[in-house]
Amino acid sequence: MKATLITLILVLISFIAMPQRNLNNSLGDLAKLDKNPSSQQFSFRTNNGTAVVTIYTPSIIRVRIAREFNTDFSFAVVGTPQNGNFDYGEDNAKFFVSTDSLILEISKKPVRLTFKTKDGSVISQDDPNFGTSWIGTEVTTYKVMQKDEKFIGLGEKTGNLNRRGEAFEHWNTDNPHYDNNSDPLYASIPFYIGIHSGLNYGIYLDNTHRSIFNFGASNDRFSYFSADDGEMNYYFIYHKNVADIIKSYTWLTGRMEMPPRWSLGYQQCRWSYTPDTEVMRIATTFREKKIPADVIYLDIHYMDNYKIFTWNPVDFASPKKLLDDLKALNFKTAVIVDPGIKVEKGYKAYDEGVAQKHFVKYPDGTDWTAQVWPGWCHFPDFTAERTRKWWGDSFKGYVDDGIVGFWNDMNEIATWGQQVPNLIQFDWNGAKTTYREAKNMYGMQMARATYEGTKRLMNGRRPMNITRAGFAGMQRYTILWTGDNQATDHHMMLGVKLVNSLGLSGLSFTGSDVGGFGGNSNPALFARWIQIGAFTPFFRGHTSYNTVSQEPWAFGETTEEISRNYIQLRYNLLPYVYTSMRESVMNGMPLNRSLAINYTADEKIYQDTYLHQFLFGPSMLIIPAESTKAITKAYLPEGEWYDFYTDQKFTGKQEIFAECPIDKLPVYIAAGSMIPIQSPMAMI
Ligand code: GLC
Repeated sequence: MKATLITLILVLISFIAMPQRNLNNSLGDLAKLDKNPSSQQFSFRTNNGTAVVTIYTPSIIRVRIAREFNTDFSFAVVGTPQNGNFDYGEDNAKFFVSTDSLILEISKKPVRLTFKTKDGSVISQDDPNFGTSWIGTEVTTYKVMQKDEKFIGLGEKTGNLNRRGEAFEHWNTDNPHYDNNSDPLYASIPFYIGIHSGLNYGIYLDNTHRSIFNFGASNDRFSYFSADDGEMNYYFIYHKNVADIIKSYTWLTGRMEMPPRWSLGYQQCRWSYTPDTEVMRIATTFREKKIPADVIYLDIHYMDNYKIFTWNPVDFASPKKLLDDLKALNFKTAVIVDPGIKVEKGYKAYDEGVAQKHFVKYPDGTDWTAQVWPGWCHFPDFTAERTRKWWGDSFKGYVDDGIVGFWNDMNEIATWGQQVPNLIQFDWNGAKTTYREAKNMYGMQMARATYEGTKRLMNGRRPMNITRAGFAGMQRYTILWTGDNQATDHHMMLGVKLVNSLGLSGLSFTGSDVGGFGGNSNPALFARWIQIGAFTPFFRGHTSYNTVSQEPWAFGETTEEISRNYIQLRYNLLPYVYTSMRESVMNGMPLNRSLAINYTADEKIYQDTYLHQFLFGPSMLIIPAESTKAITKAYLPEGEWYDFYTDQKFTGKQEIFAECPIDKLPVYIAAGSMIPIQSPMAMI
């Protein structure tokens, strides 16, 4: 009896002592409030974590929530807190801070945040029960789903303009067979704009770990954003207009520099134009056929065994001569650069990288090795400044030979077999981290290293820099193209959506492979794609290995004629395009503007039929249409519009049928606008 009792007591004790699994741990009640008005910062300590809010501008408030804070460092954010007026105060239940633009209320039991307008309307509010919570290292902020709330932006994401009801992942991925609902793709921009009750706001999550944004997928209670690890670290932006939200977001993460003018012209690529005589044949044909073009690309075959910074000794035996000949034809040359450096003793980039310790390492100090085009490779750690410098300097030969375009590929990091082990280590600006935190930032830092290095070598002249992978803020260094699409109408339309979404997310200079990368295009599809490309910031034809030729003349006379007309039109419009790009430089306004920027409250623009439409610059309304259509529905938003081809006038807020035979893409001009046009380019 006694023994049974003892056993029972022991079982009871062990049960009580058993560690309880804490399944959801949300930020608790306020224990200590630290006010630092001079640094525009307030800290709310609770028993299980601390929230710090910092006023950056009257319209941007930063929220940092962590159990323990790390070094405060960001590759993405460049904006810093600006001195400004604000009030603050508290009662037993809550604390508030009020700027010229918004009010932030923070309840004390528990600590939860509510952003309000100055007249008290709720813009965004934490879920009262979950607020910011942890599950293990995963940290999530839950926001109450507002009535009829819409969500737009989030960068290179497939799906609808209004992302409500869907969830997305940020984990840069080489996704060569992506389709309409594939996720994730190559680049991550954890920034979205919320829209409800006539109010608009933006949230940028500055955390590069794998993150999830859930806009009410499978529930209507909340939206949330979460990161696998690290701090909850987000910037809340409030403005009346979407354009101002983009302006504040690009103030925070930086804006592009003015691109070289020639990079706004037509560009021709394929995997691969080889040997050098083929490159010249293509370039010469453009001139003979009087089809304007500014750039020709060398894909991976220009290298010796895919070794970066080398030339194929047989097929590209005299690179300087080739580049000079192209220059004489008024062509600029761009080359592909992949991060994988072949493991091969005696190869300069490899020897230097090993000797100077530039490669990403395992925790035991050995260089991480993975396979990509050249076979086994090491990979530069672009998160280290000294490695970026080394990489940048390695472009000297290319720059000396006259190359001015640089195309950063495979930087997700893409390797055969895809699965890169999380334990590999990165410098991370001296803070040291693993692939879990560095992956999403790797591509952007590679593009940065290439941009800064080549610009330095070109004595400040601007190179053209392109990337496949990237993160928020990449607009400071690079163009983004949307990777390996397919030669179908469906992908052509998907590309339009991606470019529009990227424009909402701070990236103006973007584009998709015109004609489609995978598979074979056809005469109508290519013609239509060129027309849409003519109204896309980055206008480059490209196709894969073993596909049919995909130059403007490759599909017969009709397609050639249509292509010439629309490429020529692009050149006529260059003053307008260049001027519109200036707006991206000044205030982050993209060249291709989703209608959600100017017509945010108009329900029509979110409908499936119209969500591809966009404004090209401030005044041109573009109606993308599949190549199979000769007539399409179009929505003319508020205002008055003129048919670009016939001058016919239309009143806005009207659905119309627009004719789109294969030689014509519907375009409308906003009444009262001025479009600077230049006369046809005389290409030699
Ligand atoms: C990748 C790129 C593609 C390129 C190919 C060969 O698939 O996305 O554009 O042509 O590699 O370099």
